[in-house]
Amino acid sequence: MTSLLEDALNGSIEIIRHNLGALEEFPESFQDGAWKPIEKERAAGHWVDGFWTGLLWLAYAHTGDQALRAGAERWTKRLAHLKTNRGTHDLGFIFTLSHVLAGRLTGESDWYENAIQAAYTLIERYNPRGEYLQAWDDDGIRKWAGRTNIDLMMNLALLYWASEITGDAALADIATRHARTSRLALLRGDGSTAHVADFNPATGLLLRREQYQGYSHDSCWSRGQAWALYGFATCYRHTGNPSFLAAAQTLADYTIRHLPPDLVPFWDYQSPHIPDTYRDSSAAAVTVCGLVELSAVDAENAARWIDPAKRILHSLCENYLIRDAKGPSSLLRDGARSVPANLMEHGLIYGDYYFLEALTAFTRPEIYQRAFAPGGRQAPQRE
Ligand code: GLY
Repeated sequence: MTSLLEDALNGSIEIIRHNLGALEEFPESFQDGAWKPIEKERAAGHWVDGFWTGLLWLAYAHTGDQALRAGAERWTKRLAHLKTNRGTHDLGFIFTLSHVLAGRLTGESDWYENAIQAAYTLIERYNPRGEYLQAWDDDGIRKWAGRTNIDLMMNLALLYWASEITGDAALADIATRHARTSRLALLRGDGSTAHVADFNPATGLLLRREQYQGYSHDSCWSRGQAWALYGFATCYRHTGNPSFLAAAQTLADYTIRHLPPDLVPFWDYQSPHIPDTYRDSSAAAVTVCGLVELSAVDAENAARWIDPAKRILHSLCENYLIRDAKGPSSLLRDGARSVPANLMEHGLIYGDYYFLEALTAFTRPEIYQRAFAPGGRQAPQRE
């Protein structure tokens, strides 16, 4: 009998095939029966593009299907031009899940050149006075040189990878300094996170921390919390710095304590409207992957992290997975891109990507190992 996770994996790959046949633009949200691209008027609008290539590469790794591989290659090449794009802090998301994944899964190291260039472009956003990577760019109304955000933690993996492959310690050093600043500026004592922090870019002095996609300045946006959990666990893997492990543990404990009965977070853990407000299935999927990463680097406490990870993933499969789609579709429903911007209750390409990464971790440890940690972190026990 195939398990819940195996069924979810097989159904997901079928949906990815439908999407490959239909998509012309990089997708972001699935609403009213169709994928919609993200607005690209700002360079930062590209931040979602690597999730689609990540889905294609993982689907290829699971099946060996040459049509999926050709699709993954074609869409990955469409991202190469972003390697010199100075307008986004998300080159880590984009290149790790396209070119780095391509090189790891095919064994062809030619893919790496563009990803290395992207890492050097990303560090141009580093402010040495505040020791942070800048999140947003000036938009004609406000200047944002002093702003960083919690999402940026997920981009550090590209810098550590590029540092290991080139031998250039400066890349890892910037990643570590940014993570240290984020820990001090964005993590609260109770294990929750703020979304953004503002520094004086000339002096590096911390001015304030706030929400942007969360409910209020004191609340905790659930996807941001998941980015932080995954990001700090990854930083610990690359540095062995115990403060990063402690941060990831505290973030995980807060998350687990605040999960609702069906284990899929509401969009903000502190929304006063819970339970009559919106879920974010993408926050759940990222949380599973963060807990898997934490269990791999924190072997002593592995069961404490893997057990909730598995239960959240089961709930996604049972309650949020779209089944038997006969055409293009998201894998998960009920993502919340941004409730303050009135964008919720739809599928999200990043929710789908981390859902497939999580399914891969639990069902195909050998693929997970090759894709995410050649010679490194362990996948959980296969079901
Ligand atoms: N990184 C942007 C978001 O999670 O919505």
